[in-house]
Amino acid sequence: MTILTTHPLHQGPLTLLSQGAEAHIYLTQVSTPYTSHQQQQQIIKQRTTKLYRHPTLDKRLIKQRTRAEVKTLQKIQKLENAKLNAPQFIRQHGDSAILMSYLPYPQLKDVLKSTHTSIDRIAEAIAVLHDAGIIHGDLTTSNILVNTQSERLETEESNIYIIDFGLSHISLLAEEKAVDLYVLERAWESTHADMFHMVTAFRCRLDLY
Ligand SMILES: Nc1ncnc2c1ncn2[C@@H]1O[C@H](COP(=O)(O)OP(=O)(O)OP(=O)(O)O)[C@@H](O)[C@H]1O
Ligand SMILES: [Mg+2]
Repeated sequence: MTILTTHPLHQGPLTLLSQGAEAHIYLTQVSTPYTSHQQQQQIIKQRTTKLYRHPTLDKRLIKQRTRAEVKTLQKIQKLENAKLNAPQFIRQHGDSAILMSYLPYPQLKDVLKSTHTSIDRIAEAIAVLHDAGIIHGDLTTSNILVNTQSERLETEESNIYIIDFGLSHISLLAEEKAVDLYVLERAWESTHADMFHMVTAFRCRLDLY
């Protein structure tokens, strides 16, 4: 566990939660009386320099992806649709860092085998995203979080959370929506080869596009 003492977006200790291909994800450690610990926790997504990229291109990609993620998070927030959940955007710092709400849920790929995840809820979330003209661009089973505690509750609020919008863009083209579904289908297939009914469901949807 790495502890950073400060980041311009947060005064206080941070825990390194994930070191992905694109960014370092830090969890803020805040404890204030009278509020639950989890409610107070936030995420800093700090995109990192890639030495294998030309410095000019690297700067441009980091800026573009941070901007795309902020714009899409803001757009989703404005939709206020209970079927589509995403982190709440809080603040941006420079061209490379975003402060957002913390979603304390596992990745879809880690719960696929152990729990029954409602494909309907996932499909509904993607449909809302696509109907709003948002293409995710990297819709893998790591970029979907699942609140497994609430999956059997019959609430309007979905238990599915979509994250990682750095490659998102605006388009209403059926082909682009189909690519999102195709990427998810492949990711799902590789995680859970025997989930043939899920794959079939996605095929039907792909055919519709
Ligand atoms: N707001 C959040 N709340 C909770 N966990 C998060 C949040 N944002 C990111 N994470 C966790 O960190 C992981 C990596 O985040 P993200 O996908 O945004 O970054 P990335 O660098 O693009 O990673 P990768 O290259 O692995 O896709 C996520 O899969 C998720 O487990
Ligand atoms: Mg990711």
